[in-house]
Amino acid sequence: MEIKMNQPVRLFSSDLDGTLLGNPEATHRFLTAWQRLPPEQRPVLVYNSGRSVRDMQQLVQNRKLCVPDYFIGGVGTEIFEVKTGAFLEDFSREFGQGWNLELIEEVVGGFPGIERQPPEFLHPYKSSWYWHRAESTQIKSLRDKLTEQGLEVHVVYSSLRDLDVLPAKANKGNALRWLSGRLQIPLREVLVSGDTGNDSSMFLLPDVRGIVVENAQPELYEAVVRRSVYCAQAILADGVIEGLQHFGVLPEPPPFRPPSPP
Ligand code: GLC
Repeated sequence: MEIKMNQPVRLFSSDLDGTLLGNPEATHRFLTAWQRLPPEQRPVLVYNSGRSVRDMQQLVQNRKLCVPDYFIGGVGTEIFEVKTGAFLEDFSREFGQGWNLELIEEVVGGFPGIERQPPEFLHPYKSSWYWHRAESTQIKSLRDKLTEQGLEVHVVYSSLRDLDVLPAKANKGNALRWLSGRLQIPLREVLVSGDTGNDSSMFLLPDVRGIVVENAQPELYEAVVRRSVYCAQAILADGVIEGLQHFGVLPEPPPFRPPSPP
C-alpha cells in the first residue's frame, strides 16, 4: 500500500523493549534528536508498552528515556497523563468490564508448561505468563477454554514466549485510539512504531502510519502486510530515528560526503 506522506504527524506512539530500548546508545540518539525538535513541532509523545506505567516512569527518572506526554502501560490496560500526574480513570472503567482475574488464572494455570510472569509485570487488568514456543494450536485451545468458561478476553502471544490475557477490548491499539479520540487527533495524524505481535493492534488502526524496526519479529511483519508502514533498515531506536526522518518528523541527516583528499 502507498504510504501517505502528506499528513502531519501530531502524535507518535512507540513501543519500548526491542524498539526504543535495546541499545542504550541508540536510545540516547533518539532522545537527543527528539529534544532538539522545537517544542511546537514535537508531536505528542506516547510510550505504549507491555511494561507497567510505574516501571516506565522509573526509566524516565533514571534518564534512560525522555519525558513523554502519556504512558500507555500493561499492553493497553492503563493510561497515565504526565501533565496532570494522573491515570485516566474513565479509560480504566470502560476497559475493565466483565473481567474475572481469578477465573482466568485458574484456566491458564491449568495448562502444562505455562508459568506466571514475576509480580512486577502483573497488575489487576493484565494476566501475563511465559509460554515458550507455544504452537498456534495450543494458543487456540487456550482461547477456546477461556471462551468455554464464559470469559470474554483478549489473548496476545508475542516473541514466542509472552502470553498476555487482557480485558476483551484492551490492546495497545484500542488504548491509543481512545487516547487520540480524547485528544481530538485523527488517526491519519498518528504514527506508531514497534517490533512484536503485541504492537500489531497499533499498526492495524485505520489510517495510522507505522515504523517497523529491522529487528521486528516475523509475526509483526506478517500482520502489517498491505498497511502503510515503513520498514526501517536499522535496528532498535536507530530504526525509529530512520522512520521518523522518513515521515518528516525528524530532519533528514546531512548527505554523507567523503573527506576531500589533502
Ligand atoms: C512486556 C511485559 C510483559 C508482557 C510483554 C508482551 O515485556 O513486561 O509482561 O508479557 O511485554 O506484551
